[in-house]
Amino acid sequence: MSQRSGPLASSHTEEDHSEQTLRPRTLSDYFGQERIKDSLKISIAAAKKREEALDHVLFHGPPGLGKTTLAMILASEMGVSIRITSGPAIERTGDLASLLTSLQPGDLLFIDEIHRLPLSVEEVLYPAMEDFAVDIILGKGPKARDVRLKLNPFTLVGATTRYALISQPLRDRFGAAYRLDFYDELALSKIIKRSASVLNSQIDDDGVIEIAKRSRGTARVANRLLRRVRDYAEVKSDGNITAKVAIESLAQLEIDHLGLDQMDRELIKIMAERFNGGPVGLDTLSAAISEESDTIMDVYEPYLLKIGFIHRTPRGRTLTKNAYEHMGIEPNINELQQPLI
Ligand SMILES: Nc1ncnc2c1ncn2[C@@H]1O[C@H](COP(=O)(O)OP(=O)(O)OP(=O)(O)O)[C@@H](O)[C@H]1O
Ligand SMILES: [Mg+2]
Repeated sequence: MSQRSGPLASSHTEEDHSEQTLRPRTLSDYFGQERIKDSLKISIAAAKKREEALDHVLFHGPPGLGKTTLAMILASEMGVSIRITSGPAIERTGDLASLLTSLQPGDLLFIDEIHRLPLSVEEVLYPAMEDFAVDIILGKGPKARDVRLKLNPFTLVGATTRYALISQPLRDRFGAAYRLDFYDELALSKIIKRSASVLNSQIDDDGVIEIAKRSRGTARVANRLLRRVRDYAEVKSDGNITAKVAIESLAQLEIDHLGLDQMDRELIKIMAERFNGGPVGLDTLSAAISEESDTIMDVYEPYLLKIGFIHRTPRGRTLTKNAYEHMGIEPNINELQQPLI
């Protein structure tokens, strides 16, 4: 997954380790996304009643909102094993075929970044999802023949940050597709409280709120900020996280009251100052701030779009009035330009 740079970035190992420990294992510990949970609860109950595998599910939405977590919860709620892989990790059709044939009845196969599956591999998935079968070719040359292998019924769970890149035939084979939304402050507060108790940290309600407000509607960011604030509280005070400690430590990390960091501000500033508020194409922007366009699109842009700081137009990205106001920059509008929204 695209990673964030700047002060909010953390090393892969630190992040991976803490994601394992902080990851809720049951639906009751998974806060927010109520509509999705309600629907999954029905599917789980129905599948259990019929003693069948759960229908194939696709989760999509920006990074850090809980797609992988939901896949793992589904397996544990169903009481089945989960095999975890990702689109780019499956290079050949044979890799997928052997993975599929090793699944036990009801098992869950989780394919992360499913939009990055090679097309030839994706085609193996079609009969697997539809008929629980794989077609393989035995032998070589003129003696080669097609053999259809029966598979155990299984559940495919796919996750992607790029729903638009999933081909229609693949989309059609999922029983359900869910778009995860950014979390509101209440859900983030619950996530932060739970994580603090898992980490054995003392935090008061005002401390929770200060972190929640700056978490960009994202569970992963909430946990990351909590860890930073916790370090600060341990070093600079008695370890208790209060609003004062939270505000001080996040200010030191240059995270503003909306949760924007240096990199977000840099992006807005460059759009305002160098491109006069846009429209500016993604690739041009990517070159200007030396950040990969995928990272801009997956990591920075979704939240800036959500809070109405940028707009996507057919001619590129444009800045809005709110973004100028937040940054305290005067828009320099010439007569030919469209009025700011
Ligand atoms: N609803 C939730 N309740 C509590 N914690 C959550 C929730 N959603 C996510 N988390 C926490 O946020 C972290 C990131 O979630 P997760 O890895 O599932 O995101 P993701 O959508 O798979 O992201 P990516 O697209 O980067 O793979 C997890 O470690 C988990 O602790
Ligand atoms: Mg994930």
